[in-house]
Amino acid sequence: MIRSVIRGSGSALPQRCVTNAELAAQVDTSDEWIVERTGIRQRYIAGEDETTSSLAIEAARKALAAAAIEANEIGLIILATATPDNTFPATATKVQAALGCAGCIAFDVQAVCSGFLYALTTADSLLRTGAAKKALVIGAETFSRILDWEDRTTCVLFGDGAGAVVLEAVEGDESGPGIIASRLHADGTQHDLLYVDGGPSTTQTVGQLRMKGREVFRHAVVNLADVLNEVLEEAGVSAADIDWVVPHQANARILDATARKLGLPMEKVVVTVDRHANTSAASVPLAFDAAVQDGRIKPGDLVMFEAMGGGFTWGACLARL
Ligand code: UT7
Repeated sequence: MIRSVIRGSGSALPQRCVTNAELAAQVDTSDEWIVERTGIRQRYIAGEDETTSSLAIEAARKALAAAAIEANEIGLIILATATPDNTFPATATKVQAALGCAGCIAFDVQAVCSGFLYALTTADSLLRTGAAKKALVIGAETFSRILDWEDRTTCVLFGDGAGAVVLEAVEGDESGPGIIASRLHADGTQHDLLYVDGGPSTTQTVGQLRMKGREVFRHAVVNLADVLNEVLEEAGVSAADIDWVVPHQANARILDATARKLGLPMEKVVVTVDRHANTSAASVPLAFDAAVQDGRIKPGDLVMFEAMGGGFTWGACLARL
């Protein structure tokens, strides 16, 4: 059978790091409130010359180098973002042009904070059909550009960045490396709890993010626990078998609550929300790359990725490295 194996990862952050104290000088908030309610201590904010595509290109180049794969070997690029450089064409095509692999499949997926899970699962499916042999899966965002910087209930929560992985289709069996099981979900009836109040077809503006945080929190814990259990069941493994959970980084309390529901110790959960804040589709690959770089995640490990975001959308994916 064909398995999609993660060959390498890379990530990129904007140059400017903004602390909670700096934000407290702009809006009515405090370092104490932000740390206690979210676990966030700082975030990276893109400068004028930093874009979703520039961050994505840097992350993609690092992932290719880590995988020891040349850009011209890539047959598929899927980029997850809710903050594309332009309404069209897809930011993935800008990445493709910069990498010099014109001709391969390249498109964006839009599932907000679950975007990387949607992109990874789509890439896995396409690789297993034989549509491509090697794929770049990227999550990249500049959420700072769609925040209402006067709304303290949202502007303190998000940051910018990008992460990427290289997948390769290999012949193998379930005992070897590769993506084992994935599940994706969406519930469009929850639109009003987390959305952007603009867009080309409605206001002809980009719009700004609006969120009813407390209600999103409640749904996130329930939906994530459910989808994690679905993937464990499909894979036929128990939570205790997981070496690492790489979750979407929205709130340290959501990470705690989800781990507790699964009976997993926090030592197995990769946490970067303190450093990166919520970077939407970039957060899972950013966290994954951080844990690979610092040597925590190693070849052979069983890794669970999970995310939940606007739409609502949510999903999980289990892979052996
Ligand atoms: O990535 C997509 C998924 N997104 C999420 O998962 C986000 C989920 N939600 C959350 O992480 C949390 O709900 C928040 C961090 C957004 C908010 O935390 P909370 O504990 O749910 O607080 P709350 O919204 O219930 O607000 C509590 C109080 C309110 O004041 P009152 O009404 O009790 O007087 C808010 O006005 O905290 C106030 N508040 C703030 N105070 C200082 C809200 N934002 C701030 C702030 N600084 N930045």
